[in-house]
Amino acid sequence: MSLLTLHYETGKAAPEVIRDGTAIAERLAEIGVLFERWEASCGFEPGADQETILAAYGEPVERLKKKYGFESADVISVEAIHPQKDELRARFLNEHTHSDFEVRFFIEGCGLFYLHPGDKVYGILCEQGDLLSVPANVRHWFDMGAEPCLKCIRLFTTPEGWVADFTGSDISQRFPKLEEYLKTFA
Ligand SMILES: [Fe+2]
Repeated sequence: MSLLTLHYETGKAAPEVIRDGTAIAERLAEIGVLFERWEASCGFEPGADQETILAAYGEPVERLKKKYGFESADVISVEAIHPQKDELRARFLNEHTHSDFEVRFFIEGCGLFYLHPGDKVYGILCEQGDLLSVPANVRHWFDMGAEPCLKCIRLFTTPEGWVADFTGSDISQRFPKLEEYLKTFA
């Protein structure tokens, strides 16, 4: 189940937990974040190639491209056998921003985003079928877990826009990692 948790910046005190998909989308819309659930227009095999996957989600991908001016879309996947999984995980666990939208649609697996738009922190557990946008310049970090298993569609306006600009803050250390988050809230 997708999940939204609203935390204080201190990481202390129990967060507000929101489980309903519509309520999650409404709360995230208040901070300019798009949260949607997509269904594939047709089935595809687990090992399907990028073109097949993008075709299966062709309608919503095209809708977002038109609405936000995305020029391209691709499919990335990170699995537990990825040789650089520890480095990849550690890198995006540090709070950062991008000068462009970061948009992810989860074809398979799950991942945990933390968004830090003001003095609150929004934890968003994304699972298969979830689309999440991180607006430009919003501080955030991402945890794919120690044994990552995710396949995502990414949408881009420019390739340069997705360069991570690290804030240098250690705030992410005060918040539960994916494994603990799943145990505590899911
Ligand atoms: Fe990011």
